[in-house]
Amino acid sequence: MFKTLAQSFKSHFSTTPIVAFAPGRINLIGEHTDYQEGFVFPAAVEKGIWVAIQKNNLPVCQLYSLDFDQEFKFELQAFSPKKGHWATYVMGMVALIKQAGYAIPGFDMVIGGNIPVGSGLSSSAALSVAIGTALSGLFDLKIPKKSIVLYAQKSEHLFAGVNCGIMDPYASAFGVKDKALLLDCRTNTHEEVPVILDDYSLILVNTKVKHSLADSSYNQRRASCEESVRILQGDYPEIKTLRDLLVSDLGKVESILSPALFQKAKHVITECKRVHDAANALKDGDLTRFGALLKASHQSLSKDFEVSCAELDFLAEKSWGLIGVLGSRMMGGGFGGCTINLVKSSELDGFKSQITRAYSVQFGITCEFIPVMVSSGAKLI
Ligand code: GLA
Repeated sequence: MFKTLAQSFKSHFSTTPIVAFAPGRINLIGEHTDYQEGFVFPAAVEKGIWVAIQKNNLPVCQLYSLDFDQEFKFELQAFSPKKGHWATYVMGMVALIKQAGYAIPGFDMVIGGNIPVGSGLSSSAALSVAIGTALSGLFDLKIPKKSIVLYAQKSEHLFAGVNCGIMDPYASAFGVKDKALLLDCRTNTHEEVPVILDDYSLILVNTKVKHSLADSSYNQRRASCEESVRILQGDYPEIKTLRDLLVSDLGKVESILSPALFQKAKHVITECKRVHDAANALKDGDLTRFGALLKASHQSLSKDFEVSCAELDFLAEKSWGLIGVLGSRMMGGGFGGCTINLVKSSELDGFKSQITRAYSVQFGITCEFIPVMVSSGAKLI
């Protein structure tokens, strides 16, 4: 990818670029907890986005996307990012970095990547982090990694309309080879936990669907957590987010919230505990316990938080019954995308053929398998 990008850059702009890379992410466990300042357990993967960049001494930025085979140009003095266009992610990061007081002169950029589209590996976070890393490197801005992460998150809020948490850009920026990040989304700090799977492998299964309600429902779920906090603060003013509640508090939470709000709050509260339990299971080398927590996470996301869909439920439930599968659950925001599965390496072929057949009979769709390796975070190459 590095070579393709550098060559494409030369043929478009006739100069030699520097190249930044930012990876996509998986999340082992801890879903819909980041925006409640809870805990998540993501890791960077080897697939990602590459950005080639060079100064052009012009008042404009000239972009080319390899994936879309499209050019785009904008003036640095006046540009307006529009929802839904790939160049919006460039303009979003430029706008936020400029707003923070850094000077950004004109540049040329080529973007390419190898993250399967719509798979839920957070290609947009990887794109924003790669752009931030490239701009910081090219203009020697020395932007702290954590700031790049926060700009990437804000860009998603402002220009993509998804009120996401910090997990995706954080994992892309801070990922470490063979380690997952036990991330505290209140302090925005993490502990690195070795991912030692012995004769097991992580494999994603892409449902190949993304239901249209994904973004609006994501924002609604976030809003309902915030509403629960406001109600609970009536009796317990010290609660800032659902992160401040423990599993032992569920009784009092239930007595205050409506059943609909309670089941969502219950997911966040129990999921935070599952994150710690899963990190401990991994530290203890107890993959069976780890796998059982993946299943419990899926059940909670599906039944209580209601962010799964028929396709994700089918894949997870089918996988639980297969030989060699220790765990399976929906990964990411939900309503489509992938399941993450912990499967004995020697059973992978059987797993793939059984899942392919069953999924195709049920939905008429050929699912896609994405093997993933836990890899390092964003860097200049
Ligand atoms: C999306 C968001 C993340 C996180 C997950 C759910 O990936 O971008 O911030 O909320 O959904 O865990």
